[in-house]
Amino acid sequence: MSTEAQQVGRRVFIHTLGCQMNVYDSGKIHAQLQRDGYQSTADPREADLILVNTCSIRERAVDKMHSALGEYRRMKREGQPVVIGIAGCVAQERGEELLARYPDVDLVFGPDGVPHVQRLVAEASTGSRVLDTDFLDLENYPFVADVDPSTHGVSAFVTIQKGCDNKCTFCIVPATRGAEASRPHAEIVAEVRALVDRGVQEITLIGQNVNSYGLKVPGELTFAQLLYAVAEVPGVRRIRYTTSHPRDMGDDVVQAYRDLPALASHLHLPVQSGSNRVLRRMKRFYTRERFLEIVGKLREARPGMLLTTDVIVGFPGETDEDFEATMTLLEEADFVGSFSFKYSPRPGTPALKLEERDPVRPEVASARLTRFQERQRERSLALHRSLEGTEVDDVLVEGPSRHDEGVVCGRTSRHVMVNFPGDIGLVGQIVPVRITRGFTHSCRGERL
Ligand code: 5AD
Ligand code: SF4
Repeated sequence: MSTEAQQVGRRVFIHTLGCQMNVYDSGKIHAQLQRDGYQSTADPREADLILVNTCSIRERAVDKMHSALGEYRRMKREGQPVVIGIAGCVAQERGEELLARYPDVDLVFGPDGVPHVQRLVAEASTGSRVLDTDFLDLENYPFVADVDPSTHGVSAFVTIQKGCDNKCTFCIVPATRGAEASRPHAEIVAEVRALVDRGVQEITLIGQNVNSYGLKVPGELTFAQLLYAVAEVPGVRRIRYTTSHPRDMGDDVVQAYRDLPALASHLHLPVQSGSNRVLRRMKRFYTRERFLEIVGKLREARPGMLLTTDVIVGFPGETDEDFEATMTLLEEADFVGSFSFKYSPRPGTPALKLEERDPVRPEVASARLTRFQERQRERSLALHRSLEGTEVDDVLVEGPSRHDEGVVCGRTSRHVMVNFPGDIGLVGQIVPVRITRGFTHSCRGERL
């Protein structure tokens, strides 16, 4: 059999951990491997190739990788002829170590390996073990154009940049994803068009620090200008973006909220802490006051806008008083939701030194996290309950509810999740709904 013939009918199973960047990268991996005849499968037992796309943001994500690898390694030892690869952020950070620890693993590559995954997989399939953790040149960075073949929904991600030039002291991402490169805006717009052609209506622009898009490339659009360019693509009904760094949130982006109805009335704006002392130690380069000023401007430009955030508790040196400042910021900034985490020491990050001198006891950090999350849940529930009896006219229906037969699920521009009885034919439509019940994470409603 020729190599080509052997490759036809091969199956790849991709296990994705971590953030939207990884979800997106997995889609790009799938797109490229499809050209070599790989079909994706949802069952690792029937795969010829298993890739674990890993995350190293917190130790818990790394633990998940180990348990996944344990399972796949067992399949291989039990006789399944499968090539096993580790991709993503842990692969980048601990490549050698992973090869040594997992003799059954054939391939290890970091996020910058995604554009040449075809070659890497071909090499690993010949029986040689492959490690690729080189960073690519930032100039002419080869962003992959192929659209993820499994894209079918109403909503899709589009990457606008890779890497991160910030130096938040707790964060491992600059080490795993390297320096920042902006994707040329023409490529971004082309991908948006291709997605709209497939029926996508909501575009989420993604990057580690989207607000700094284009700043280092002479002649490139700014992030705000990019928003206008994407809004001009016919068929784009809603635009979201993530992740934003408050430091780079300029007035031009605020203005876009006045000008662009398609820009969603929700922003995820990670604050990390409400204490200026902690923000300084995190090297975030804004104060609580500046953060609140940005929030005020955004809400003035777009009344009713909802904000969500990320918070770290138990950062080295965080006192009770610092933590109380985070609790009060939750109220003052009026966050409707948040992701909150206990500080997790990451290899090679500057915060490790702070932690040596000034650790927060784990039980103290846990107690703070519990308190923060309880208050956040109360607040989310209160917001959703306050919507009971109101009518919303902008539920973009995304698909069937995961739990109930005959119920569909969508989101408003403000990112409120609404479930209501309805036919699957509503998917892709924007419909008016009366909210009948509010829960912590979503609302129930009935179609008007
Ligand atoms: N420990 C805990 N949380 C972290 N995050 C990033 N690094 C760490 C860490 N070392 C959180 C931040 C970030 C989110 C994606 O993960 O809140 O915004
Ligand atoms: Fe995890 Fe960060 Fe890598 Fe995303 S970029 S996969 S969150 S470590």
